[in-house]
Amino acid sequence: MTIKWVLTGLVAVVLMSTACDNSKKLTGGNALSAGLKDAYKKDFLIGTALNTAQIQEKDSTAARLIQQQFNAITPENIMKAEIIHPQWNVYNFELADQIAALGKKQGMKVNGHTLIWHSQLPSFARSIRDIDSFRTFFTNHISTVAGRYEGKIASWDVVNEALNEDGTMRKSIFLDKLGPDFVTEAFRLAQKAAPTTELYYNDYNNEQPAKREGCLRLIRKIKEAGVRIDGVGIQGHWHIGKVPLKDIEESILAYSALGLKVMFTELDIEVLPRNFSGADVSQRMDNNPTLNPYVNGLPDSVQQQLAKDYEDLFRLFLKHKDKITRVTFWGVNDGQSWLNGWPVRGRTNHPLLFDRKNLPKPAYHRVMNLKNVAPEEKKAF
Ligand code: G3I
Repeated sequence: MTIKWVLTGLVAVVLMSTACDNSKKLTGGNALSAGLKDAYKKDFLIGTALNTAQIQEKDSTAARLIQQQFNAITPENIMKAEIIHPQWNVYNFELADQIAALGKKQGMKVNGHTLIWHSQLPSFARSIRDIDSFRTFFTNHISTVAGRYEGKIASWDVVNEALNEDGTMRKSIFLDKLGPDFVTEAFRLAQKAAPTTELYYNDYNNEQPAKREGCLRLIRKIKEAGVRIDGVGIQGHWHIGKVPLKDIEESILAYSALGLKVMFTELDIEVLPRNFSGADVSQRMDNNPTLNPYVNGLPDSVQQQLAKDYEDLFRLFLKHKDKITRVTFWGVNDGQSWLNGWPVRGRTNHPLLFDRKNLPKPAYHRVMNLKNVAPEEKKAF
């Protein structure tokens, strides 16, 4: 009887510890294990974009992974004007307050994204005809939103994507109503409302020579007006096998030569076919099955190429760690990446370091290996 009881107990202990091991693997380890943020703590912040469910910690596995891997967070959508300022006199701060609180609770720096962007504007703002009224909307929006989070978040993407590929100003409602000085004005208003918050300009493809030149012009103009700009975000929506390392390196040097902090703010590496580069959300492609080849997972050759691309990129980032302050991934895992829905809806994309089960991919290990993380720390994932 006693032996039977002991044996039953032993079996239970073995089963429980196996279950724990499995859950550790699936959840990406426990909260104390070293993650990307620890491996790179002396180099730059490692960030991620969060959707609403992640901000609200709805999924404990994802919440644990975020805590373990990242020390900076950017709201993927909920601080955009359409959501935070839906009507002339109505502001919806609930979710933005939640991400500010999450950052405080977990010790993660929050980057506000974004005050001024032509996309995801509320419909009331799009339909303002009168220039003075539009200027009032512009002023109120920046002053109210940036003012509310002064001291509560670390930084703002003050203006997002104001440039064309050739470096000229993008045609937008802001350019149309306020003229090309709207960027400087946005920074001036943000500086006034949020004097201790860092202020950044953010764009995609601004590592490409022509757009980079336009971006440098824009930055010089802001500085020459005596207005503060602290950093520039290169979004980093790149494509597998085509990460433009030379342009990226030249851009890190050029932007930092202006005294700016350089950040990679929306990093992902697309693995699916696409016939254009960048991240202009208005561009779309027609769907057909050849555009969605990896529904059942990535073939090893592609997985390895993705890993190599990430390794090369992080090696470059490390080379310039004195100029780079943050590298943020645009999403936590492949399953929630915006690239499953753009530029073709309903595809299965694999652009990040964690797969759909929150498990680290070969690319993750290559990025960690660059830092020679001790083997016992690596084992935890
Ligand atoms: O909020 C509505 C919801 O009410 C509705 O039920 C649902 C149905 O489709 O749509 C929801 O809106 C979606 C929104 O994300 C929030 O989930 C929009 O359709 C969708 O287009 C929108 O996409 C976002 C995109 O910006 C829009 O411009 C992506 O999630 C977001 O990752 C993406 O992020 C941008 C950066 O802000 C700037 N740089 C480029 C980057 C990638 O496009």
